[in-house]
Amino acid sequence: MKFLCAVLSCASAVHAVGVGTCCTRLHQELGTKVSFLGQPAYDATESSYWSLQEAGLKPGCILRPSVPQDVSRAVAIIAPVDGCNFAIKGQGHAPAAGFANIDGGVTIDMTGLSTTLLSPDHSVLSVGAGASWLQVYQYLNPFNVSVAGGRNGLVGVGGLTLGGGISHFSPRVGWACDTVVNFEVVLADGTLTNANKSCHSGLYRALKGGANNLGVVTRFDLRTFSQGNLSVSSFVNTISQRGPVLRAFTDIVSSPKFDVYTSLVVGFLYNSSSKAWVISNSAVYTSPVLDPPVFAELAAVPSISNSSRITSLASLADEAPTPPLNWLFATATFKASAEFMLEIFDILNNTLYSFNPQGGVVWDVAFEPLPSMMLSHAAKTGGNVLGVRPEQGNSYIMLLSALWPDSVSNAVVEQVSRQAISTIESRAKAEGLLRKFQYLNYAAPYQTPLASYGADSVKFLQRVSRKYDPLALFQARVPGGFKLAKEGQL
Ligand SMILES: Cc1cc2nc3c(=O)[nH]c(=O)nc-3n(C[C@H](O)[C@H](O)[C@H](O)COP(=O)(O)OP(=O)(O)OC[C@H]3O[C@@H](n4cnc5c(N)ncnc54)[C@H](O)[C@@H]3O)c2cc1C
Ligand SMILES: *[C@@H]1O[C@H](CO)[C@@H](O)[C@H](O)[C@H]1NC(C)=O
Ligand SMILES: *[C@@H]1O[C@H](CO)[C@@H](O)[C@H](O)[C@H]1NC(C)=O
Ligand SMILES: *[C@@H]1O[C@H](CO)[C@@H](O)[C@H](O)[C@H]1NC(C)=O
Ligand SMILES: *[C@@H]1O[C@H](CO)[C@@H](O)[C@H](O)[C@H]1NC(C)=O
Ligand SMILES: *[C@@H]1O[C@H](CO)[C@@H](O)[C@H](O)[C@H]1NC(C)=O
Ligand SMILES: *[C@@H]1O[C@H](CO)[C@@H](O)[C@H](O)[C@H]1NC(C)=O
Repeated sequence: MKFLCAVLSCASAVHAVGVGTCCTRLHQELGTKVSFLGQPAYDATESSYWSLQEAGLKPGCILRPSVPQDVSRAVAIIAPVDGCNFAIKGQGHAPAAGFANIDGGVTIDMTGLSTTLLSPDHSVLSVGAGASWLQVYQYLNPFNVSVAGGRNGLVGVGGLTLGGGISHFSPRVGWACDTVVNFEVVLADGTLTNANKSCHSGLYRALKGGANNLGVVTRFDLRTFSQGNLSVSSFVNTISQRGPVLRAFTDIVSSPKFDVYTSLVVGFLYNSSSKAWVISNSAVYTSPVLDPPVFAELAAVPSISNSSRITSLASLADEAPTPPLNWLFATATFKASAEFMLEIFDILNNTLYSFNPQGGVVWDVAFEPLPSMMLSHAAKTGGNVLGVRPEQGNSYIMLLSALWPDSVSNAVVEQVSRQAISTIESRAKAEGLLRKFQYLNYAAPYQTPLASYGADSVKFLQRVSRKYDPLALFQARVPGGFKLAKEGQL
């Protein structure tokens, strides 16, 4: 079959003006979709960020597009204005400052683009890039189908999918990005086009992990699958049970017959004010089977509390928002080993135990399976750029997060997280257990997730970037997030 692919038009000439001019022109062309400091629409976007670090930045103006063509016009206006930098915001759940907001530039808040439409045969969901996963799950619930998306419903479709995306269903269908059949995307010159297996297939693959380096995605078309209710268990254990908990986790992760319905997060929490550790596990089974055998070993560990229920994804994902706090994410990936996880705990306890910054800090160390089963889907769906392959074997991802109320402590918390990650990485390396992969959606600003995809992926991304963004708009003028221009040099 022959497809007619949309062609690229030429980029416009560069004029040196500034952000003021750029906001004025946007306002002239897009009217009340553009807001300024002190106006309700501006404040609404500012107060919708998950972290205080993001909410604290003050853009010169905020654009809330309501149709994809608004984004197209906005990029065409912004691109030629030298010095007019911009940020792209989905549901604002990336914690680091500047990833989806900007001081003095233009923030494009995509949340108005959130329509959901299931294809007549129910096989593809088209969803606006600014939607939250909760909007998606609530829409899909009556149809008994689902898509692979965030576990917490408040998270955005845009950021999660462009950075990979771990869902409850990932062992069955892969990363969330692997389930994208088509991206509708605005390119650097303002062209609105579609990227899929048949048209712009390089861009299609590059967007699966390439984050905000290639364009502004306005719509995702996601492959659906039949899905009923889920089985949800939680277990809280004392820290003295870490041995058996980590053994159970490792047995699940490294099982040669990984059960594809497994969605497990083992979490260690540390409160610097009370100096107390506790273990909290979320064990989801994506089939309505109460207390499935795969979690039997974990369930048998003596617990402070435990619960099991059958529920829908729409209600499971409907989590209460957290109060305004500072947040930090950092990550690393390891080959499965219960002994090494105990070592990680000791390193963390040594690093964090006596650190009690002003206002206190809570550390949440989450371990999530990265089974080769999950990595086997990409090859069948046009590939992605994440660079993790099934033949590398079963691994797990560590997400180290910190939350703290007092912004005075930002620099020290970041520094301590860095020290913890670097000590853990060097131990893992020495023991041959470190994978190079750093999951972009969990990475700290001081990490280099794009480089972690490997040289082939980086070269491929650079090629696609040069083709679709010859003037490097998304490198130079969208400064937030992980940048190919920086990490490509590493
Ligand atoms: C409470 C919580 C739960 C989480 N749960 C999960 C989980 O279950 N699985 C998982 O994999 N991750 C999870 N994450 C991590 C999550 O994937 C990232 O935080 C992700 O960046 C959030 O996407 P967003 O659109 O909400 O974020 P934003 O901060 O709005 O965007 C994140 C990045 O993506 C870019 N971006 C967003 N939309 C677009 C677009 N349309 N076009 C181009 N670039 C865009 C932004 O520029 C920014 O750099 C979770 C995070 C939090 C805070
Ligand atoms: C969805 O599943 C429920 C329960 O099995 C059933 O009652 C309902 O008819 C199904 N809906 C559709 C659209 O298939
Ligand atoms: C693929 O993209 C082309 C344009 O680039 C578009 O015409 C076509 O409908 C897209 N295919 C799918 C399956 O979305
Ligand atoms: C941490 O411990 C302190 C002191 O016990 C308590 O007041 C605070 O609520 C705890 N914080 C969290 C997030 O649990
Ligand atoms: C689970 O909780 C129940 C009470 O809610 C308790 O009786 C039981 O011992 C717990 N299971 C384990 C393994 O600790
Ligand atoms: C699924 O779980 C919900 C509760 O979240 C319940 O109301 C509904 O009846 C369940 N559906 C089926 C088919 O069991
Ligand atoms: C953490 O470290 C402190 C200080 O060295 C020590 O007293 C404590 O026992 C450790 N906690 C655990 C659970 O090992």
